[in-house]
Amino acid sequence: MKLYESYRGLPMFAGVGSFDEVSRPGLSVEHCVGRLKRCHYAFKRLHQIFTARITAEPIYELKMAFSLHAHLCAEHATALRTRVGEMREPPLGLDAIPHPALGIFFDEILATTTGELLLGLYEKALPALKLGLERHLADTNKLVDHPSVRLGRFALLEIDDMLKYGEAAIAKLVDKEARVRAEPWLSLLDDCLATAGSLHGANPPAKKDLPRQYSAKPYSYDPVPKRDGRFSDPYNMGVNAEVFLYDEKFPAKPKTLMMFYKRLREIDVPEMMASIITQTPGKPWAYYRDMSRQLWDEARHAMMGEVGFVKAGVDWRKVMVNFTWSLALNTQLKPIERHAVLYFIEQGLMPKNGKRFEWEVAQKSGDPLSALFQDYDWADEVLHARVGRDWYLKEFTDPKEAVRYGDECWSKVLMGWCQWRDEGLTQHRNWWPDVYLEACQSWGVAPDPKVLAYNTSYETVRADLKELTGSA
Ligand SMILES: [Fe+2]
Ligand SMILES: [Fe+2]
Repeated sequence: MKLYESYRGLPMFAGVGSFDEVSRPGLSVEHCVGRLKRCHYAFKRLHQIFTARITAEPIYELKMAFSLHAHLCAEHATALRTRVGEMREPPLGLDAIPHPALGIFFDEILATTTGELLLGLYEKALPALKLGLERHLADTNKLVDHPSVRLGRFALLEIDDMLKYGEAAIAKLVDKEARVRAEPWLSLLDDCLATAGSLHGANPPAKKDLPRQYSAKPYSYDPVPKRDGRFSDPYNMGVNAEVFLYDEKFPAKPKTLMMFYKRLREIDVPEMMASIITQTPGKPWAYYRDMSRQLWDEARHAMMGEVGFVKAGVDWRKVMVNFTWSLALNTQLKPIERHAVLYFIEQGLMPKNGKRFEWEVAQKSGDPLSALFQDYDWADEVLHARVGRDWYLKEFTDPKEAVRYGDECWSKVLMGWCQWRDEGLTQHRNWWPDVYLEACQSWGVAPDPKVLAYNTSYETVRADLKELTGSA
């Protein structure tokens, strides 16, 4: 190498690596594929775990983070699948468990409680995956295996983001005692990795007993949505956002509050979509990837509402953000019926009284943030309509039948407005005046008596506007 020079000292090998890195024997195609499949398996299982734990996780911030992390893992799993497919590999064998100990490792994390879940995900699984990808970059020849190197570097970037989030979350949620209690279980996880020769499989495998703890029984998914203490009245359907929004006698500015409410209420879409994804096995991988992207979009819509309220000077805990939609769908309908309802609602949002209308109201309101949110909400919705066409509509030969079936499924959902009140679950209190007054104070304007007096619930009006009262 001493005698070899590039033209006028230009960087060599297109800059992909040093002479050392491009001239080492590295990994054979077979070994490379073996390593990539292990990382792919980890991303796939992480995606499954993050998704399955969204619905019944009460803490709103964790729901949102799990939605993002599920999406990121689905994207990297997709990239690795594509890469494996480029390497002389059908049959791809991407559904196989690369090592039984890794199967136990992820089964255990899936089935544990929130605190241990965080430790398992962010202190064991993701660090092991990070190590696996770093090891791949260190061992492989950076020239011959450049496409894998590129994917690995991308993945590491987002793994670091996830680890940073996890570290901060654990610092706030897992105390010392909880960590001490978790120790035996955490060492089981370590033993799983050691038995598998680490996640990447390049270490000599250890021989350990791996007695299953949480995964001794088959995992059972909890489809019942749960919320943390800030959601004090989750059955409240006392303020009909759509009737207010579509009533021309009300001005645009307070309508932005109703749209923030509609956005924040979309917490229920990830809760519901997570149930479809978790309870629909056996689809092509692209189904899970697309559905997870949409799930993350819906989580972002919820956070738009959160940001909007904070910016408008409103304490959103006063807004009674209910979970009635995800609760009803997850407990009353089969997964395909839930998907039908989602499709039915979303295709109803495309005409001019849907997302475009919301964007126009936001424009008129003079609130640039609301306009921005509705602009992107609308764009996202166009993508979701495509996801619906690709993965729901194709189940039907006649598109009209697909819409009719969605309508039928949505119509059979029982929203127990009176029943919930009679059972004392909620009074359907009208929270609107409090929230509107708080916003007026922060805007420095006098409340409009007409707007302040708004008092229409979902009790009687739902039937007319049923296609507009769901989330999407
Ligand atoms: Fe949405
Ligand atoms: Fe949507």
